Amino acid sequence: MPVACYPGSFDPIHLGHLDVIEQGLELFGSVVVVTMHNPGKPSGAFALDERQAMIRESLSGWDNVRVEAFPGLAIDAAAAFGADVIIKGLRSASDFDVEQQMSLMNHSVGGVRTVFVAANPALSFISSRYIREIALYGRDLSGLVPAPVAARLAQLAAGRRPS
Ligand code: PNS
Repeated sequence: MPVACYPGSFDPIHLGHLDVIEQGLELFGSVVVVTMHNPGKPSGAFALDERQAMIRESLSGWDNVRVEAFPGLAIDAAAAFGADVIIKGLRSASDFDVEQQMSLMNHSVGGVRTVFVAANPALSFISSRYIREIALYGRDLSGLVPAPVAARLAQLAAGRRPS
C-alpha cells in the first residue's frame, strides 16, 4: 500500500488539514502526518509536543494514519517514514506558487514527488495563523478545528488573553 507523507507546522491542526488527510487516505491508503518546523514561521502558539498531542487526539480512531515529528527536511522525513510521496493541500493560487517551488526543489534534491490535492472549498479559508490570532481573544472556533484543538485554544485564551 503506497504511503503519503503529509508535512506541516500544524500550529494548530484544523479541519482543512483533516480534509487533506482524508483525501490522502483515499488516494494512497496510508498517511504519515509529520509535524515539522517552518523556518518562515518562527512565532507559533504551541510547542511541538502540544501540536503532536492535538493531532493524535484529533485523529483518534482513524485507521492507517501515523503521527510523527521530524526536525529536518521534508524529503528526509519522507525517507525516514517510508513514504512514497509527499502530499499537500492547495487552498489558493498563492499556495500553489509556494508549493510548486518547494515540490520542484524536493524532487530535484530528494527525488520525492509531491501530490497536490484541492482543498474542500467549504474549508479552504481556514488558516492556523488566523485561528491562533482569533483564539487569543477568546472567540469560539469549534466550527473550524477538531474538538481537542478547540479545548486547548480555550485554555490558551484563558491564560494569555490580552487585557
Ligand atoms: O504548515 P506549513 O507551515 O505550511 O508547512 C510547511 C513545511 C513545514 C511543510 C515546510 O516549511 C517544510 O517542508 N519544512 C521542512 C524543511 C524543508 O524541507 N525545507 C525545504 C523546502 S524546499
